[in-house]
Amino acid sequence: MGRIKGIILAGGKGTRLYPMTHAVSKQLLPVYDKPMIYYPLSTLMLGGIVDVMVISTPEDIGAYEKLLGDGSKIGMHISYGTQDKPAGIAQAFLIAEDYIGNDKVCLILGDNVFFGQNLTRTLNEVIDSDHPATVFACQVGNPKDFGVVEFDEEGKVLSIEEKPQNPKSNYAVPGLYFYDSGVVEIAKKIKPSKRGELEITAVNNEYLKRGELYVKTLGRGMAWLDTGTPDGILKAATFVEAIQSRQGMYVSCIEEIAWRRGFITTEQLRKIGEELSMTDYGKYILSVAEGTK
Ligand code: G1P
Repeated sequence: MGRIKGIILAGGKGTRLYPMTHAVSKQLLPVYDKPMIYYPLSTLMLGGIVDVMVISTPEDIGAYEKLLGDGSKIGMHISYGTQDKPAGIAQAFLIAEDYIGNDKVCLILGDNVFFGQNLTRTLNEVIDSDHPATVFACQVGNPKDFGVVEFDEEGKVLSIEEKPQNPKSNYAVPGLYFYDSGVVEIAKKIKPSKRGELEITAVNNEYLKRGELYVKTLGRGMAWLDTGTPDGILKAATFVEAIQSRQGMYVSCIEEIAWRRGFITTEQLRKIGEELSMTDYGKYILSVAEGTK
C-alpha cells in the first residue's frame, strides 16, 4: 500500500442555504454540536489518512485554518488550497496536483456525512486494494439529485450519470472517491459540462472507459446524510443527537478518533479535553482519556 492523501472540498457558495451561508462557509455550519467539516474529516481519519488538504474559496480558507490549524494537535498534517472559482469537484485534483504527487488520493465532499459500523472496515478494504478508482453506491429515494451508478450482479459498473432525468438505478454515488495519482491527468483532460463544471462524474466515466472503475455498495447499515439543504442539516443534526444521547458515544469527535487510531497519545487527548472542559464536548473527551468511555 502506497501513501494516500485526503482532500476535503469545502468550496462553493452554498446558495441553497442562503441567508445562512451569506457570511459563513457552508461546511462550517453546525451539524448539532460540531462544524459540518468534522464529519467528512472524521471519515478520512477512520481510513487512517493523516495527510489532508482542505480546499475552499480564497475568502473562506482562513476560517478553516483557524479551526483546524496545521492538524498537529490531532496528530495530522493539514494543508490548505484555494479554489478561486467554483468550477466543479474535479478541479480539486488540479489544485492539489503537487500535493498528490505520486500518491493515491481520497476526495470527500465537505458536506457529506457518513455513519455506520462497517465504515472503517470498508474504507480500509478500499485503501488496501490496488484498484485505480473506487466509488460507492447508496440506495436513495431521489436518485435524480445525484450521480447515479448502474451495475450488474457482479458489481461491474455499467454506467454512471450525473443527475439524470431518467435514472437507470436507485443507487446514488456519494461524495467519497478513491483514485490513483493518474486522476490528475484525467482531470486535466475532461471538458466542462453544460453547467460549466469539471464534473466528478466525467472523471469516473474516464476510469469506466478504461475498465478501471470499481463500485462498493454501502448497505442499509450505513447512514449517508445529505446536508445540502436546511432540512438536510436539521435531519442530520437530529440523527447525531439521537445516536450520541442513546449511546453516550460521540459521532465524529475528531480528537477521540485521533486517539483511537493512535495519531495522538492519551496525554495529548487529556490536554485537549481540559481546554474544552467548559463544554459537554470537552467533558466527553476527558472521559475518553480517563478510560471511562
Ligand atoms: C455532487 C456530485 C454528485 C454526487 C453528490 C454527492 O453533486 O456531482 O455526483 O452524487 O455530490 O453529494 P452536488 O451536490 O455538487 O450537486
